[in-house]
Amino acid sequence: MLVSGNGSNLQAIIDQSRSTGYPAEVAVVVSSHSEARALERARAAGIPGYAVERADFASNNDHNGAILDKLKEHGVDLIVLAGYMRLVGSAILDTYRDAVINLHPSLLPSFPGAHAIGDALEAGVKITGITIHFADETYDTGPIIIQEVVPVQQEDTEETLGARVHKVEHRHLPYAVKLWATGRLRIVGRRVNILPKKDRSAGEHAPEDGH
Ligand code: GRF
Repeated sequence: MLVSGNGSNLQAIIDQSRSTGYPAEVAVVVSSHSEARALERARAAGIPGYAVERADFASNNDHNGAILDKLKEHGVDLIVLAGYMRLVGSAILDTYRDAVINLHPSLLPSFPGAHAIGDALEAGVKITGITIHFADETYDTGPIIIQEVVPVQQEDTEETLGARVHKVEHRHLPYAVKLWATGRLRIVGRRVNILPKKDRSAGEHAPEDGH
């Protein structure tokens, strides 16, 4: 998992991965900031964690190359960007073709960028939500895997709306990883089809409200 900050979504995946039958585990956490709380969470869970900071490299390419080395070293199959505030770059995307997933706190293509929750409030929309999508060369644009709506309430602040958005993220991101890990995602142009479950006895980790 690539992170930059709090790591509550990392925590959600760690927690799910420790429940019976979950088909994925977090092999390594790479943070773009050495101070990220996410690294503490990795440490507490006994998962290898590294800060790989842009300032320590001459170019974006060198920085992404160092990240790629860490991912390979730990045998990573799927990259999850959970609050990762940088572009992963073509070296990583080429190596991990259709295996990089990003999480975004709005219903894309509305409110891309780093201030999605505040931007939604400012625009006065009545509904916002979350998007989990395959990453590509630009921010917040790849094929969409899952979206879920979060209604905006009249008295919402960035904090209250953000808290509800995060709760929804924590339910859906582990499910998206599960879908990928069990081979149930097919990209068809801009669309991502979710294939039926192969083995009904395998147990379902779907969020309470659907899928
Ligand atoms: C999430 O809201 C995610 O959608 C956005 O950054 C936030 C990360 O939160 N890209 P956390 O670090 O997982 O708590």
